[in-house]
This record gives sequence, structure tokens and C-alpha cells, in this order.
Amino acid sequence: MDTGLLLYCRRGFEKECAGEIQQVATDQGVYGYCLVSDNSGYVVYVTQTLAEADKLANNIAFTKLVFSRQMIVIVARLKDLPSDDRISVIVDAASELPVSGDLRVETPDTNEAKELLGFCRKFTVPLRGALRKHGCLLNKEHLKKPVIHLMMLDSSQGFLGYSYPENNSPFFMGIPRLRFPAAAPSRSTLKLEEAILLFVPKDKIETRLAPGMTAVDLGACPGGWTYQLVRRGLFVSAIDNGPMAESLMETGQVTHYMEDGFKFQPQKNVDWMICDMVEKPIMVADLMGDWLAKGWCRATIFNLKLPMKKRFVEVYKCLDHIEAKLRKKGLRYEIQCKHLYHDREEVTVSVRIIG
Ligand SMILES: C[S@@+](CC[C@H](N)C(=O)[O-])C[C@H]1O[C@@H](n2cnc3c(N)ncnc32)[C@H](O)[C@@H]1O
Repeated sequence: MDTGLLLYCRRGFEKECAGEIQQVATDQGVYGYCLVSDNSGYVVYVTQTLAEADKLANNIAFTKLVFSRQMIVIVARLKDLPSDDRISVIVDAASELPVSGDLRVETPDTNEAKELLGFCRKFTVPLRGALRKHGCLLNKEHLKKPVIHLMMLDSSQGFLGYSYPENNSPFFMGIPRLRFPAAAPSRSTLKLEEAILLFVPKDKIETRLAPGMTAVDLGACPGGWTYQLVRRGLFVSAIDNGPMAESLMETGQVTHYMEDGFKFQPQKNVDWMICDMVEKPIMVADLMGDWLAKGWCRATIFNLKLPMKKRFVEVYKCLDHIEAKLRKKGLRYEIQCKHLYHDREEVTVSVRIIG
């Protein structure tokens, strides 16, 4: 292969990532094939020409891809890089790169590949200098220009490519680095934090998650998700038979109902409903669709726990189910779904009613 798209994904989800890109590329009228290696943490979608790969990188909305953490146009597959002069070979391959504003030297997200991160960090400095001299990297970082990615598989091989800043993940390796807040009662707080970071635009966060707003958290215990809303000043009804963290109850912003999340009805409509209940994905999707269609909430973020098989098919079945409910009600909405870095066997969905 010479060119195509390079997609990063969670290790073990290569088939889902491949199934998805195959479908959306075909929808764009680009016919290629996937190179998939189990547990590699990435997928290559091979196209006939660089122009086709570039077309996909422009036309496929990165936010619509559930299983991809990053989308990169490949300009060269690098093999047998000589250990005494990798840079010359990479610079030779760089002629197809657009003039870019940033460089990331990365690896797939696997334990073996991550051992290379020290090498990547050190290698970035001389490579940046060489690419600047070559003219394909601007002398100053420019966040509106393409990003050059060198993805190393080991110290002698990898891929060279670029992504578009308005249609990529802004994070190194496609992974947001979040620090666990010491006051949060569970690690899953990071899932909701990442979801908010991804799904709520920075300039909208203060209006969409404003102090004084109301929310319901279905399957709330011990309160990692509730914590994210409480710290933004929201008032939360937490639904779960388990115990909520005392620290959250002491804020006075949380009311705990020991009820079944599938039967609970809010006394008043709320701004937000979040849900992390472990249940069959289609049952959760059905419940989420009902809450939105009935107007019980205006926005939601929830998890769909994935079955072992047919994970890709199941996710799209659930999203279709929710959308059909909303369309039937004539509602306008925005829906996004992503396999987050902090998600394991699950994906996270955001739906917002518009207007
Ligand atoms: C993964 S945990 C939630 C963790 C929580 N989001 C956090 O950050 O701390 C799932 C929770 O869902 C609750 N749950 C499962 N089925 C439920 C149901 N039908 N009604 C209410 N809660 C339920 C469980 O008791 C459990 O506490």
C-alpha cells in the first residue's frame, strides 16, 4: 500500500473501526479496503490515490466516526528506516505533505508501542528542525494549518501523514490527558469529563452546563458522574439503590432516590439526564429516546455497554432507534457517539434537542 487513511482506535476494536470506515468511505463513493491487524490499535483504509484519501479526510466528519480516535491521510509507509539516519528518509517522503503548522510523533495505543514514546519525544526535536528546513512545517506552531503525524510502529518503521485541524482530534495520539480529581468518588468520573470535553464546545460550556440547572443521573452510585455536574453547580437527582458518596450529599445539591432507573419519572422536566446503568444497549437506547421524546430532559450523555459480538452493528442499531423516536416526534436534535479513551467495552452518546 502507498496511501489511504490511518485511523487510531482502542486496542481490540480494530474490526469495528474497519467496518465503520469501510461503510462511510463507500457512502462517499471511494472504494478501498482495510488492512487490519488484531490488537494493533490502528487500521489502514487503503485507497487508490492520495487524492481519494484526502477527499475522505475532508468529507467524512471526524466527529461522526464512533470508533476512530484520529484520522490521518497517509503520504508514506516507512520501512527499514536506517538507525543512523532516519530523518533523511522521512524528509524524502515528506514532499506530498501540505504546509503544516504542527508535528506529532506518535505510536498506537498498545503497551508494546508505548515503550517507544521516549524515542518519539526525543526524535520530535531534530525531525521538527528538518521538516522546517524542508519547508513543509512552518517555523511557528500554527493551529489552523494541517498537523503532520509520524506514527512509529517500532524504531525502524511507521507511517507519515497529515490531518486537518478542523476535522481531527486535537489531542496527541487522539487521547485527552485528564487528571483524576481527588474529590471524585469513582474513576468513572473521567468518562463523563472526557465526554463533556468532546461533546460540548468550549465556548458553549458555560451556557449548556450552567449553575442552577437541573439533572437526573440514572445509575448514579457512588457518584463519579454526579460529581462532574455538582462541581459545575447543577442540582442532581441521583437514582440508584446503592449508596452515594457522603461528600456529594453534603453539598446540598444532590437528592438520592433509591428507585429503578427504568421506572423513575422526574416530577419536573430537567435540563440534563445522564445514565451509566449496566443494561442491554437497546434497552438503554429505548429509555433515552423516551426521555427525550417526552421532553423530560433537553440533553443527555449516556453509555451503551457493548455486547461481545457485533459491537459495530449494535451501536448503529441503538443510534437509529433513538433517532427514529425523535424524528417521529418532529424534534430537531444533535447526536454524537464516541468510543472514548476512558470507555472500555462501551461507547458514550450525547443527544441534544435543538430549538
Ligand atoms: C457503572 S455503575 C455507575 C457508576 C457511576 N456513573 C459513577 O460514576 O460513580 C452502574 C450503576 O448503575 C446502577 N444500576 C444498574 N441498574 C439500575 C437500575 N435499573 N436502576 C437504578 N440503578 C441501576 C448500579 O447499582 C450501579 O451503581
